[in-house]
Amino acid sequence: MKRQLLVMGTLCSILFLGTFNWSSCTAKKEAVTATAPATESAPAEKAAEEPPSVPPFIAAIQEKIKGKENLPAEEVFENIQILKGIPAGRVLPIMRMGFSQSLGVKCSHCHEFGDWASESKPAKQVARDMWVMTGKINQELLKEIPNLQSEQPAVNCTTCHRGEVKPATNM
Ligand code: HEC
Ligand code: HEC
Repeated sequence: MKRQLLVMGTLCSILFLGTFNWSSCTAKKEAVTATAPATESAPAEKAAEEPPSVPPFIAAIQEKIKGKENLPAEEVFENIQILKGIPAGRVLPIMRMGFSQSLGVKCSHCHEFGDWASESKPAKQVARDMWVMTGKINQELLKEIPNLQSEQPAVNCTTCHRGEVKPATNM
């Protein structure tokens, strides 16, 4: 458990670097103490200026977690195994920018559309195993290679997938 959290923390900081602002992983530390729901700060006029283009199924998930954005994901969702400890409000950005965009797929590649907790699609468990593999590469394997240019060399889903389900090889 401790090791899993460690892996998570590091993944947080590098997983979707360049895809979206992952500052919320630092917000993870504040998550326990924070009381105000993240959505309350947006002024009404601003919302009127920028009409929301949120698809209804995304809106439904946002509604489900409303006011619980800072709680650990496993307390808000039904079937969380690898994202334990991540604020519930970060799950959707991970699904959209992290998973879907990295692989160039829609939600339904891994989910029975709308039945998000279901395990009916094998790709969902593959994604969990990939998450663990990515953590192992970053936490263990890269650390064993001397003389790399970066202080904290790291890979994430995009490193291999680059918008494709099947990463490229030269064969
Ligand atoms: C590459 C596979 C993949 C894609 C694509 C994907 N998901 Fe997920 N999703 C997962 C995995 C894996 C979990 C479980 C995470 C865990 O075990 O901690 C999950 C969990 C969820 C959950 C929590 C369900 C619950 O109650 O436990 C929601 C909600 C969700 N996904 C929504 C979406 C939406 C919406 C999209 C599209 C924008 C999407 N997912 C795209 C793999 C994916
Ligand atoms: C080190 C390279 C690498 C990284 C990093 C990586 N993957 Fe993969 N992924 C692969 C390879 C290789 C396959 C197998 C492709 C094949 O079937 O030949 C694969 C397959 C998958 C599949 C199965 C796709 C399908 O339906 O056929 C999913 C889902 C997936 N990866 C999700 C992820 C997610 C999510 C991440 C980030 C947490 C990730 N991967 C990170 C290399 C990687």
